[in-house]
Amino acid sequence: MTEKTIRHVAIIMDGNGRWAERHGLPKIEGHRRGANQVSVILEAARDAKIDFLTLYAFSTENWKRSKQEVAALMKLMEEFLDEKIPELMEKNIRLRAIGRLGDLPAGVRGKLLRAIEATADNTAGTLIFALSYGGRAEIVDGVNRYLEAAWKSGKKPEKLTEESFRNCLYAPDVPDPELMIRTSGELRISNFLLWQLSYSEFYVTDTLWPDFGKEEFAEALAAYRKRERRFGGRLK
Ligand code: IPE
Ligand code: IPE
Ligand code: MG
Repeated sequence: MTEKTIRHVAIIMDGNGRWAERHGLPKIEGHRRGANQVSVILEAARDAKIDFLTLYAFSTENWKRSKQEVAALMKLMEEFLDEKIPELMEKNIRLRAIGRLGDLPAGVRGKLLRAIEATADNTAGTLIFALSYGGRAEIVDGVNRYLEAAWKSGKKPEKLTEESFRNCLYAPDVPDPELMIRTSGELRISNFLLWQLSYSEFYVTDTLWPDFGKEEFAEALAAYRKRERRFGGRLK
């Protein structure tokens, strides 16, 4: 059998807080280390010829965190965008984002949109940040956009199918992830890509995100390649 191709890997980058706690450092230091790790895994994904890497950076629920923590996370995102765009250009990587981007502070949103535009023609791979992202929000936003378009056209909306509903997603052209990785051991989906993960393989590791390196990323890919995907069908 040929090697299973992996086009899309999605990661719940969890454990920055625990990493900081274990090192006796402030939580924000954990987030900083976590942000640094993004470049490492981006490179590993590129080496593995993965077309799409989706990183859960901030959930719709994460707004419930303290003002200070939210502000620190937004600042780290801005810094990432300032520092890494030349690197993305050099590596020919396209940046995209999914989520309620309108909820982001203007500074982050502006930089994000500029970076998305600047990298739009890059072709060596796509990094997708899930920012102010929630799986339920994505479904609800998509349906509301659909209804609004129908309302504006003055026609009764057509019944949706699984295929046509895909167009309601934030990034309909992106294939579903074959593999979803969650660091830090939690056995839950935390409102990530609810529609898209329906048949993805999960790899959960106790490693905290700031410690999750290239070797373990390769291990996750190897574990995926050993999986038997059935999609509900019967075995021969
Ligand atoms: C993940 O780290 C980063 C975000 C959710 C933004 P956490 O801050 O959730 O780390 P833990 O889960 O407390 O260790
Ligand atoms: C999920 O992690 C969100 C991100 C990694 C951005 P959380 O730490 O917010 O998830 P829960 O609270 O453990 O479910
Ligand atoms: Mg967490």
